[in-house]
Amino acid sequence: MARTGTADLVIVANRLPVDRTTNPDGSRGWRRSPGGLVSALEPVMRAGDGAWIGWPGVAGHDDLEPFVEDGMQLVPVGLSAEEVEEFYEGFSNSTLWPLYHDVVAKPEFHREWFDSYVKVNERFAAAAAEVASENATVWVQDYQLQLVPRMLRDLRPDLRIGFYLHIPFPPSELFQQLPWRRQVLEGLLGADLVGFQLPAAAQNFIRLVRQRVGHKTHRDTVYLPDGRTVKAAAFPISIDTAGFEELARSESVERRARAIREALGNPAKIFLGIDRLDYTKGIYARLRAFSELIADGHFGVEDAVFVQVATPSRERVEQYRILRDEIDRLVGRINGDLGRIGRPAISYLHSSYPREEMAALYRAADVMVVTPYRDGMNLVAKEYVACRFDNDGALVLSEFAGAAEELRQAWLVNPYDINGMKQALLAAYEADPKDLNRRMKAMRRTVREKDVAFWADHFLEELSATRPEHGKPLRPARKS
Ligand code: G6P
Repeated sequence: MARTGTADLVIVANRLPVDRTTNPDGSRGWRRSPGGLVSALEPVMRAGDGAWIGWPGVAGHDDLEPFVEDGMQLVPVGLSAEEVEEFYEGFSNSTLWPLYHDVVAKPEFHREWFDSYVKVNERFAAAAAEVASENATVWVQDYQLQLVPRMLRDLRPDLRIGFYLHIPFPPSELFQQLPWRRQVLEGLLGADLVGFQLPAAAQNFIRLVRQRVGHKTHRDTVYLPDGRTVKAAAFPISIDTAGFEELARSESVERRARAIREALGNPAKIFLGIDRLDYTKGIYARLRAFSELIADGHFGVEDAVFVQVATPSRERVEQYRILRDEIDRLVGRINGDLGRIGRPAISYLHSSYPREEMAALYRAADVMVVTPYRDGMNLVAKEYVACRFDNDGALVLSEFAGAAEELRQAWLVNPYDINGMKQALLAAYEADPKDLNRRMKAMRRTVREKDVAFWADHFLEELSATRPEHGKPLRPARKS
């Protein structure tokens, strides 16, 4: 066996939970990036001597010594400029991302991109093999690292390995397009437990393994020829609900929410969209639906405004550039046609904001509009619900977001159906407070009961159960 490290729980993700920063004096540092995943795993990482392996988000191989931040051991993995192009922008985000999201954009298949994906996955697997203690638990995250479970098992058969896919897993008709479909399935089968957002995704995976790799399967379990079994199941991800609610209740957020409403001219209703600027999110169709409601005379720009925050994302990828231009043009046209002085129909912000500002926007918004064509879960929908502690506010939600399976009391829409979206936006605009209250209360119960700590505990418990005779038990993530 290879030399072992000291970490009992190792998270392997494409990104580290910190961002690289440059101080005023030119020296460089790290700033915690406030993801739900890291807040969920922090207690268990600290309790169990955890390590997090990930890419720092910039090209280059300098500055890559492991370091400790907030009691967590962080292990950076470097990517060269060419690997950023081929592994990250290429295979991960121009092949797998569109393929796994219903082919909303056309996936590109290039052999040299896959070669780079293999090489980078090997590097992550080697880093995990080095820091994991004997019989440790390793939890690999997301579509960028699907080959890591198999590679890691070859290096370290003693480990208990989990894999979680944060994005949808496509129906087999689409997955079969992938020239490297067998390698990906075999990569995932290196894990003891493969987690998905929804039960249908886990079933897709099991069916594909049976058809494409030829292993025996029964219900949620794959039986490998060497006697090992792999389980596939759904674990819908969530947010740090209590953390968001606490932030939303703070005096400063409340003050900022009032200031936002005022700056927008105190309209009767504020609609809000917050998304990474991604073609899966359905931003274009939603803005059209809203603008048609104004053009049709259902309300005017004095009555309602749509605030659309689009967070810059994957900006060097062609499809993302095209989308940015399309949205720029559409917003310009809508505001040119419908706006009045000081009263645009759409207030468009191409920028990313800290959690406090997001919470203030959620507090200020009367109607939250989340209409992706396909989305693994969509945490923005859950964050909005967490922030509406007085049980008001309306959520318009795509049927094709994973969150729609839990947030049944939202106004559910088909994002391809513009007339249907118009009806739902109008119904949310006109809803009476009693109806809002009933819906929001039910949704709030869901996100309170099933928060991100519940998700992490549930996954890690199931993972421990996969090989009870083997490996160290982990302490649960829940703080209480
Ligand atoms: C999605 C993926 C994550 C990814 C995030 C941001 O949520 O599931 O794995 O980190 O988008 O995308 P980026 O390419 O900036 O990491």
